[in-house]
Amino acid sequence: MTLTAKSVARAALVSTLVAAAAGAAVLAASPASGAASTLAAAAQQSGRYFGTAVAANKLGDSTYVGILNREFDMVTAENEMKMDATEPNQGQFSYGNADRIVNHARNQGKRVRGHALAWHSQQPGWMQNMSGTALRNAMLNHVTQVASYYRGKIYAWDVVNEAFADGSSGGRRDSNLQRTGNDWIEAAFRAARAADPGAKLCYNDYNTDNWSHAKTQGVYRMVQDFKSRGVPIDCVGFQAHFNSGNPVPSNYHTTLQNFAALGVDVQITELDIEGSGSTQAQQYQGVTQACLAVARCTGITVWGIRDSDSWRASGTPLLFDNNGNKKAAYTSVLNALNGATGTTTPTTTTTTSSSTPNPGGCTATYSEGEKWNDRFNGQVTVSGTDNWIVTVTVSSPQRIIATWNTSATWETANVMTARPNGSGNTFGFTISHGGNWNWPAISCRVA
Ligand code: G3I
Repeated sequence: MTLTAKSVARAALVSTLVAAAAGAAVLAASPASGAASTLAAAAQQSGRYFGTAVAANKLGDSTYVGILNREFDMVTAENEMKMDATEPNQGQFSYGNADRIVNHARNQGKRVRGHALAWHSQQPGWMQNMSGTALRNAMLNHVTQVASYYRGKIYAWDVVNEAFADGSSGGRRDSNLQRTGNDWIEAAFRAARAADPGAKLCYNDYNTDNWSHAKTQGVYRMVQDFKSRGVPIDCVGFQAHFNSGNPVPSNYHTTLQNFAALGVDVQITELDIEGSGSTQAQQYQGVTQACLAVARCTGITVWGIRDSDSWRASGTPLLFDNNGNKKAAYTSVLNALNGATGTTTPTTTTTTSSSTPNPGGCTATYSEGEKWNDRFNGQVTVSGTDNWIVTVTVSSPQRIIATWNTSATWETANVMTARPNGSGNTFGFTISHGGNWNWPAISCRVA
């Protein structure tokens, strides 16, 4: 994503001060940006969007549309662009409900995420029993026709949805599409690029939020492979459907940062978190901060507006209650987007160290150091290689004000890249915390 002039200036300022710091200098914390009063306006301050899923049959509900128009600047059709909706009979395309959503969004100056061109689920009846070349060709024709119809109107397409298996295999999910050959995903991406060269092309999945899960690693390897072979992929969508059985992982920054380091944008595409009150609000804050801490996390979409609009309505997982009132979760997201802290308890737990496994062959372990009223020290030890690149991401209003035993550069004001400077594999830094005691997110890769 493009850095704003403000963030570049901030990064330069911090970089200069760090270079000049003698270990304990303090940089006064400044707010990330001015306070905005809607989710979209708050996200736009850092060049991001804040979106929602929309159902065509609710566009006549004035409460729903009022919130939609006021709060969001990105729209995803919840069901209306899926294969069963857009090609109910083979070769006969139907865009009525999808167009209602796209036209509403565009008339309101909002952008659209397309969801989804190819998926094992929500296939029209005629496709479900197809196989082999006939199915492959039908899928590619669907991708081409739908992406061509909406050419120029879609910010990003979920080209392929949910193609990886749950559990420990880290491999592909079995499906009629998968049985057409392992290259079905890249074939779909190439067809989508040809049909709409201006749209960002995403792979989208769920249960890929925890960096240590096999499914996350499987998707990571596919994206790494696609990038290395020139398959046209621009982004990875993390659905982010959370509840007590599938909680927000503490390593979420790491997941987003590691995917972004492959050279793709990352987006949170279907966020909902079951729960209520301050617990739910803290979890929403943590997810929002995880995105904000990754320069290439370009936006967040929640999967519906009011709790009653959710596919998991009984879990009250959204930002507005059934009457359209703002929940505590709404306020925590808005404050996080505005760069505010202190409204909810930090989600990071305090233990003595954390380590981040990396498939590229190194591990970075963070340890707490000394603490003062205004700042604290941290230390990172790298194992697995002497040729490392470690990314240290702090959350606003924190700033790294000093480093030692490393050569440091800044991606943004919040993201430092550390490399060896001949002092060994342990380096340290001082963080001016501004009241935010959260640990930085650490990730490691081999140079
Ligand atoms: O509209 C019909 C209604 O006329 C009919 O009486 C009723 C009977 O079952 O069905 C209604 O359609 C339902 C539709 O939602 C609209 O409510 C479908 O049965 C139901 O299957 C469909 O569920 C959707 C689900 O995807 C299908 O896979 C959910 O709304 C939608 O939120 C959900 O979204 C998915 C994402 O696409 C991918 N990631 C996971 C996410 C949550 O499951």
